Amino acid sequence: MLLPPPPSHSAQRNEAVLSLIGNTPLVELRFEPEGVTIHAKCEFLNPSGSIKDRLAQCIILDAEKRGLLGPDSIILECTSGNTGISLAMIGAALGYRVTILMSGSASRERRLCIRQFGAELILFESGASYQTGIDISLAMAAKDSRYFLPRQFENPLNAEDHVHTTAQEILWQVPHLVDAFVAGYGTGGSLAGCGKAIKARCPDARVIAMEPEEAAMLAGELPCCHWIEGIAGGFVPPLLRAAPLDGTIKVKSAEALAMTQRLNRQFGLLVGTSSGANVAAAVKIAQDLRPGACVVTLLCDRADRYFSTRLFNDDGADLEQFDANAMAARKAKD
Ligand SMILES: Cc1ncc(COP(=O)(O)O)c(C=O)c1O
Repeated sequence: MLLPPPPSHSAQRNEAVLSLIGNTPLVELRFEPEGVTIHAKCEFLNPSGSIKDRLAQCIILDAEKRGLLGPDSIILECTSGNTGISLAMIGAALGYRVTILMSGSASRERRLCIRQFGAELILFESGASYQTGIDISLAMAAKDSRYFLPRQFENPLNAEDHVHTTAQEILWQVPHLVDAFVAGYGTGGSLAGCGKAIKARCPDARVIAMEPEEAAMLAGELPCCHWIEGIAGGFVPPLLRAAPLDGTIKVKSAEALAMTQRLNRQFGLLVGTSSGANVAAAVKIAQDLRPGACVVTLLCDRADRYFSTRLFNDDGADLEQFDANAMAARKAKD
């Protein structure tokens, strides 16, 4: 379904918003009952509200340098969330048309953000897989040379940019060396890129992939339903193959939600569910390391992406029910 055209599109270039991307703070979070401190990189402070602003800026500026974008170009990506919002923001600022392909099940707040930046949305059927959207984007690009596809899942710049920006920032922000870096993966770009650069500077650091317990694919399990949006899309992404991983850690969806709500209510950090999952994993890792070890993780996006999800409509009883349902679904699948 093609929604009506967005209200305006300007060919003018306004680069101010680019200066707000990156150089995010690294904050120390003290967990009293657990007796550990972790270091969290505040990627939710990027201007559109997520870590994906880095990737969108890097890929679009690189495409410009290589002459792949002109005044008629249309940036086209299939994405269910943050990348679409980031590309729409960059397109608005640099004067490019942006078209985002999304499943009809994508949340209303995400659709509204993308449209508010003036991008077009094409929705495909709700039950269809992510691959359906990719296939549609490839077919559109084959017919019309104006389309430029950032292809975040395969584009090596996705990981490389984190080597040169996010990881370097972390390395000068930490008090000493990094003992462990833990993060979930969607495309795998942030985990692979940060992991590579941190290992290069701190060879003894452990780089750990966080996975939802219900979809622990690196741990060799079948993907199943989980609530941690933005990560573990049901396959191991190609960018993760080159990641220097020392291990994996599982976090239950219910645990991720509970930690996200704790970050919201006890730390005043209005972050989304993958941030809660990352922090839950970082706390567990810190508990297993020597006191004072430097464990770093990412706070990937803001909670306002999740108004219509369980993060804002939840209570403990529901979380327990989810665990029971996920277990039953897994048994049925096995
Ligand atoms: C909310 C959220 N957290 C984490 C990630 C993981 O980032 P990456 O794609 O670098 O693996 C994503 C990616 O889409 C995301 O949207």
